[in-house]
Amino acid sequence: MQQGWIPLVPESASSVSWKVDALYFYLSGVTLFFTLLISSVLIFFVIRYRRRTPYEIPRPIAGSHKLETLWTVIPFLIAMTMFGWGARVYFEQVKAPENGIEIYVVGKQWMWKLQHATGQREINELHVPVNRKIKLIMTTEDVIHDFFVPAFRTKMDVVPGKYTTMWFEATTPGTYHLFCAEYCGMNHSGMTGSIVVMEPREFDNWLSGNAGSGTPAAAGQQLFQSLGCASCHGTNGEGGRGPTLAGVFGKKTQLQTGESVTVDEGYVRESILNPQAKLVAGFGAIMPTFQGQITEDQLMQLVAFIKSLPTGDHTQPASTATPAARPAGSPTQNLK
Ligand code: CUA
Repeated sequence: MQQGWIPLVPESASSVSWKVDALYFYLSGVTLFFTLLISSVLIFFVIRYRRRTPYEIPRPIAGSHKLETLWTVIPFLIAMTMFGWGARVYFEQVKAPENGIEIYVVGKQWMWKLQHATGQREINELHVPVNRKIKLIMTTEDVIHDFFVPAFRTKMDVVPGKYTTMWFEATTPGTYHLFCAEYCGMNHSGMTGSIVVMEPREFDNWLSGNAGSGTPAAAGQQLFQSLGCASCHGTNGEGGRGPTLAGVFGKKTQLQTGESVTVDEGYVRESILNPQAKLVAGFGAIMPTFQGQITEDQLMQLVAFIKSLPTGDHTQPASTATPAARPAGSPTQNLK
């Protein structure tokens, strides 16, 4: 772990880190400029307008609209450049790319558990290829943690009961510190790890040398059978008494309430733990909750399985699938 070229600034190793640095230097520059300006004017005035005789009475000053307008408008404009620039960098940093390599992350007191979509599991260490967008889908088994990689200038809270996402694209091979940046109990300061950024070929070697326990999607498929999901949603998620699961991920689905919702990791998760929260139109509240019966790891496996289901079922194209085989009034694309 090297230092950057400026003291106290960590090395910069992701596609967004230089943008964060540029903004940071701008903020520091503006701060420094005004600190120097105000201090020197202050010192100058203290000397220039000091009281020279004990009976000296200054000329009264009633104020100046021109001056007050000026020192309101100029700082406002400067502050807006910070806001605009900051918002741009922030949105770029939080909006996960769609074609990223997905990694599942579960935090717990006090370690990071990570799993690649290809099945490899890691603890407190993550191997990734250089120059590829990596998307982390994260949650925690206990309290709030925070996934922080200073060299990538990115961090994101890991919150109980929901998924948060974060992405980065490492630009230089090497090993980088991973920290937990949210106080999470006694060994918070020890909840560290490393991100190992590798050349693509090296990474492929690493992947094949660490063939794991099967992919999360495959594990999810087994759970799908053993938990009995298949009895309502069909063995391959084709639907039945419960909504179709195949091919709905990433799309919008119509709810009982008339609203529609995008089927993402968070919605699938909620529908497993609290099935009644957002019922798909045309389906009754018959699904039992799985709250407390499955672990975060298993939830992620189920999500990965549902994600992996091919678009539409095999008996008929998704676009023309009729509700005939399902309870009356059910739309073609459902999930619950
Ligand atoms: Cu986990 Cu601090």
